[in-house]
Amino acid sequence: MAGNRTFTMIKPDAVADGHIGAILAKINEAGFRIVALKMTQLSKKKAEGFYAVHQERRFFEELTSFMSSGPIVAAVLEKDNAVADFRTLIGATDPAKAAPGTIRALFARNMGENAVHGSDSDENAAIEVAYHFAVTELFA
Ligand code: CMP
Repeated sequence: MAGNRTFTMIKPDAVADGHIGAILAKINEAGFRIVALKMTQLSKKKAEGFYAVHQERRFFEELTSFMSSGPIVAAVLEKDNAVADFRTLIGATDPAKAAPGTIRALFARNMGENAVHGSDSDENAAIEVAYHFAVTELFA
């Protein structure tokens, strides 16, 4: 079952730019079921914990400051092949390189403020879901 779930966040840029509804519509149109959803603001510490694998990167401070700068929408999505299919739907990390019609091509500002996060493996999806949602908040 883990292979059928991924975790996403609509990032502070896309929330501020008014794209929550359009992004959720794209997600549904692509065949994902939303099984958990919440609007929240990450503390700096919570963002640092989420992105701990990137803590040695030069952009870590910028990334965690940005991700805690305003509200986000966190969600758990279900679909066959969820992780890979969602990464196809969102497009490349850098929106300038993202395929036309992808969520990042349509809604992202730049490489750092890139509209959405998507898990990069089934293992990380499970970790990220558990980091943001209690079992009682999942409606499979
Ligand atoms: P995300 O999928 O959330 O996972 C890590 C994030 O780091 C990535 O999206 C980008 O937003 C961010 N990131 C990656 N490379 C850079 C960079 N060179 N400068 C700023 N942010 C970056």
